[in-house]
Amino acid sequence: MELIAVCDSKTNTAPDFPIGWWSVARSHELEPGDVKSVSALDRELVVYRTDSGEARVHDAFCPHLGAHLGVNGKVVGESIQCPFHGWQFGGDGKCNHIPYCETIPSRAKVQNWPVSEVNGEIYMWFHPTGADPDREVPIIEQIGDEHWTEPRQVEFNIPVHIQDIAENSCDPEHFQYVHKQNQTPPSSVEVEDDGAVHLRSEIEAQGMKGDLHATMFQPGLARVMTSYGPGAEMLVYNSAQPISRNETLLRWTLIVRNEIAEFVGDQVMDGIIEGLSDDYPIWENKVHRKQPIFCKGDETLVLFRKWVRQFYLPESPRGQQ
Ligand code: FES
Ligand SMILES: [Fe+2]
Repeated sequence: MELIAVCDSKTNTAPDFPIGWWSVARSHELEPGDVKSVSALDRELVVYRTDSGEARVHDAFCPHLGAHLGVNGKVVGESIQCPFHGWQFGGDGKCNHIPYCETIPSRAKVQNWPVSEVNGEIYMWFHPTGADPDREVPIIEQIGDEHWTEPRQVEFNIPVHIQDIAENSCDPEHFQYVHKQNQTPPSSVEVEDDGAVHLRSEIEAQGMKGDLHATMFQPGLARVMTSYGPGAEMLVYNSAQPISRNETLLRWTLIVRNEIAEFVGDQVMDGIIEGLSDDYPIWENKVHRKQPIFCKGDETLVLFRKWVRQFYLPESPRGQQ
């Protein structure tokens, strides 16, 4: 007797979380002394800023009786204090003070995640073994540069695994069907010497020809530059916070050169949001294919799948892709 194969579903096909830097908050959301509760990578986290201004990310559940440090936890100098019995934890995640006891149990610690704060955001480094970062968050020099406008920011919740969102940018064929473009624009997708995936494409808007250059540094960090000539440039930076295997929060930051600030208003942001809403029904309902059946015309998707393997442990039980 042969059983019919188990049906694919969103929960039984979604892969692990890729190794890398993940955005967990925007810098302006966290003043010294602020404490936030954040859900990311299927974990509950506490994100806080010490009195001296350092941002920290720890697992949220206190090793004592399990209270959530991100809900009513308090910053005390350079430590975070649990709201339940006042135990305090320092930058390495170790308990450094128990108000009613001199001896601190050696196992009293919360997992500490390395933090980087650049581009107006706070990032945590995730590695399934707890290994130290082997790369840095790319610095987007145009953010904060005087020749560019103040950032416009928007966030989206997307009901799909981060890898499938990233894959979308290496998928020129879907533009015709999902984004209603007449034809696939001439484009190239390559992994360049910096290790990032670069997509270059010709574009046209209101009769003007321009070019688009998208750089994917890792599955959740990408920059898209659009240029219609010197001084007519726009930059969209996109960073991800995977919440679970099937839910991702995307943070978008849009800036344009001052020269075109008055011509590029809300409608550009609206256009980007509209583009994402085209993808939404596909993402919301698809499953992740670990081993898709590719055809000869899918070279860029194949390139993406090879590139993305580096962000998973080879022995990862839920697969690399
Ligand atoms: S649960 Fe955190 S101090 Fe008791
Ligand atoms: Fe798309």
